[in-house]
Amino acid sequence: QVLQLEVDQIMKGGYEHYMQKEIHEQPEAITQSMRGRVKQQKSAEGNPYLQQRIKLGGLVETRGNPYLQQRIKLGGLVETRDTIRRSRRIMFVACGTSYHAALAARQTVEEMVEVPVVLELASDLLDRCCPIFRDDTCVFVSQSGETADTLRALEYAKARGALCVGITNTVGSAISRATHCGIHQNAGYEIGVASTKAYTSQIICITMMALALAEDSISKRERRDAIIDELGALPDKMRSFMQVQDVAMKELAAQLKDSNSLLFFARGNNYATALEAALKCKEVALIHSEGILAGEMKHGPLALVDEHLPIVVVATRDSMYNKMESVIQQLLARSARLIILCTAGDATMQEYAKRSDCQLIEVPGTVEPLQPILNIVPLQLLAYHMTVLRGHNVDQPRNLAKSVTVT
Ligand code: G6P
Repeated sequence: QVLQLEVDQIMKGGYEHYMQKEIHEQPEAITQSMRGRVKQQKSAEGNPYLQQRIKLGGLVETRGNPYLQQRIKLGGLVETRDTIRRSRRIMFVACGTSYHAALAARQTVEEMVEVPVVLELASDLLDRCCPIFRDDTCVFVSQSGETADTLRALEYAKARGALCVGITNTVGSAISRATHCGIHQNAGYEIGVASTKAYTSQIICITMMALALAEDSISKRERRDAIIDELGALPDKMRSFMQVQDVAMKELAAQLKDSNSLLFFARGNNYATALEAALKCKEVALIHSEGILAGEMKHGPLALVDEHLPIVVVATRDSMYNKMESVIQQLLARSARLIILCTAGDATMQEYAKRSDCQLIEVPGTVEPLQPILNIVPLQLLAYHMTVLRGHNVDQPRNLAKSVTVT
C-alpha cells in the first residue's frame, strides 16, 4: 500500500493530480509530437538551388523540387499521401475530446488540401449507417486507440474500401493495428480520465498531416511556412504563460465554482475550444456547461443570458475577431457576466474589461490554425481548479472511464 502510494507520487512528478501534471506537460508533449517531423529551417534558406531556379526563369511546380524541400516528414503517410490527396473527401471519425481535436483542425485541412472534410462522431456514423465509398479517406482519431465505437466505425469503413488512417497515442493499440497507415502522437502516456495533453497533440498531428499533404503546392507555400514557423515557436509560447495562468485560473475558479452552469461562446476553429472547455467542466468539475457556436447565439442561447450566468467568450485576434467583438457588445447590452479570452495586450478588449467590469484571460497570439492549442490551456486549468475547489475526484470522475471499450 505504502509502496503503491510512493509509486503514484513519483509518477505524478511532484504534482497533486495526473490531470494537473498532464496540463503542465503540454509544451513537452507537443514538442515530442513534432520531434523529427517538423523541420524549422525554411526551404529557401541557404538553398543553392533557389538562386538557380530564379535564374532559370521562375519556379516550376514539380515533385522533388528542392525549392519545395520537405519541411514536414510523416513517415507513416509517405506511401499513401497521393491517395489521400486524390480522395473525394476526408472524413474524421472520433469520440469525445478526440472529436473536438478534429473539429479544431478541420479548417486547416480544408485550406491546405482543398478536399471536402467531414467530421463524424463514431457512434452516430454507425447509427446512421453513413455512406462511405472507396475513394474516401477516413481518419480515426483516438488517444487510447481502443475506443469501441471508433474501432467499430473503422471496421465499417474498411469493409467499404475506404483508405483508413489512424491518429493514436498508443503504439500497438487496436486502432493503430487495424488502420492502413497513420501518425503516432508520441505525447506520452495520459492517465487522467479527462484528456488534456492528448487533445493539443492531436491538433498538432492533424495540422502536420494537412501541411504534409500540401507540400507540393507553391500557392500554399507562404502560408504553410508561416504555420510551420509558428509550430516551432508554440511550445515556448505555451510555457511562457502557463504559470501566470495557473494562478489566475485558480482565482477565477474560486469565483465560478458554485455556478450552476457555465457557457462558452466562440466561432471558427475556436468552436472546438468552446466545446472542449465545456466538456472539461462537465467531466471533472461536474458543472453543467455548454459550448456554443456564437453564430447561433440569436437562435436560442441569447434567451439564457442574464447578469448571473457566467459566459466565457473566446475572442482572440483572428479572422473571427470582429464578429466576436460584436457578440461581446450584444452580450454586454444584456448585462451578461462575461469573461473574455483574448490575445495578450489587446487594448480593445482591455477597454471592454474596464468599462464593463468583466474579466480577461490573456493568451499569446499565434497563427489562426494553432490558436486553439493555446486557447484551451487556461480553460483546462480553470476546469482543474474548479474540480479541486469543489472537492471532486480529478483523475477518476464519477461514472467515467479513460477508455470506453464497450458500445
Ligand atoms: C473517454 C475519455 C475521453 C476521451 C474519449 C475518447 O470518454 O474519458 O477523455 O476523449 O473517451 O477516447 P479516445 O481514446 O478514443 O480518444
